[in-house]
Amino acid sequence: MGRRAALMPLLDRHDRPLRSLRISVTDRCNLRCSYCMPAAEYRWIPHEAVLRYEEILRLLHHFLRAGVRRVRITGGEPLLRLGLDNLVRMLAGLDGIEDLALTTNGVLLAEQAAALRAAGLGRLTISLDTLDRERFRRLTRRDDLARVLAGIEAAAAVGFAGTKLNTVVVRGFNEDEIPSLLAFGREHGVEVRFIEYMDVGGGTGWSEERVVPQEEILARVASAHGAPQPVAGRGSAPAARWRLPDGTVFGVIAATTAPFCADCDRSRITADGHWFTCLHATRGHDFRSLLRGPGPDQAIAHLIESVWRRREDRGAEEARARRLAGGPEPPAGADRHAEMHVKGG
Ligand code: GTP
Ligand code: 5AD
Ligand code: SF4
Repeated sequence: MGRRAALMPLLDRHDRPLRSLRISVTDRCNLRCSYCMPAAEYRWIPHEAVLRYEEILRLLHHFLRAGVRRVRITGGEPLLRLGLDNLVRMLAGLDGIEDLALTTNGVLLAEQAAALRAAGLGRLTISLDTLDRERFRRLTRRDDLARVLAGIEAAAAVGFAGTKLNTVVVRGFNEDEIPSLLAFGREHGVEVRFIEYMDVGGGTGWSEERVVPQEEILARVASAHGAPQPVAGRGSAPAARWRLPDGTVFGVIAATTAPFCADCDRSRITADGHWFTCLHATRGHDFRSLLRGPGPDQAIAHLIESVWRRREDRGAEEARARRLAGGPEPPAGADRHAEMHVKGG
């Protein structure tokens, strides 16, 4: 299958290749962002169900043979997983990975940045929604803004380049900070991406009124920093990129008002080994049973291939069409895997 993947990429029903894989290493988090983890009490994935590093590696081997080239480690908060630098080192050594990245909330980054870099991690994306301590505390239910800012500085200090900041824009919470977050990104040499608030899993307090659409994000940027010009060459990336008159580049991820399903080459594996072929999917495919069962490893390769060939997902487009038609939303939180902190954002 390795040779075949090179000659004939595995395509889904809409001719989309399997290229980008996000692997969640834990569903636990040290923050409680209200758009992601609304509940006070959580039913966490039991420890014994969480894939061990050797299991992740075995699984990755098959995904790489099926065509995956970009791997992103996610959570919950991935830096909570003990010895994550060991996993990074093993992944960085695999043949076929062209891009190895990690998404973190940054709280533990100052302590771990050097080890992650030494282990071979290529890129970091750090979540930062506000520069205001009190707002940060209200959103995340933790008083950790200073640690996140220290994490961003540490990433640069140990030599990470190409770091991105993910900012979810929520009306009434942080839309007034769009210009200052952009200025912060420019000062720190990191690319800010503004993400439209998405309606994904659970009671995340989402409502259409709280979405700040990309036109408004761009208008707020323009009035503070001058008119941005589009940057060409988006490919399958969720972010459309823009350049300010002073050269600063930033991105907008219009996941709610202008979904990018047509080019989506991404899929996600939960910490307990369930494969989701769409961020909006409510059911995953169970690889843990195959990894731990008596069957041959070939069964893993077969499942990857048969699921991807049948893939038709266009979750964000369908959600948008439902909203425009005024139809009912699907039942929220039907499967705990559907929660954002389980699927890894
Ligand atoms: P790189 O290109 O590897 O830097 O990352 P990326 O641009 O793919 O961005 P990242 O993976 O950090 O995703 C940023 C955010 O975009 C996620 O946290 C989600 O909120 C949103 N997003 C990413 N992938 C999808 C997707 O497949 N569907 C939808 N609807 N949203 C997505
Ligand atoms: N809408 C948009 N982005 C979200 N994220 C988590 N929940 C949502 C949501 N409801 C993003 C976070 C983080 C990434 C992992 O997912 O900002 O950067
Ligand atoms: Fe944790 Fe990220 Fe979810 Fe915030 S968005 S609660 S940092 S997993």
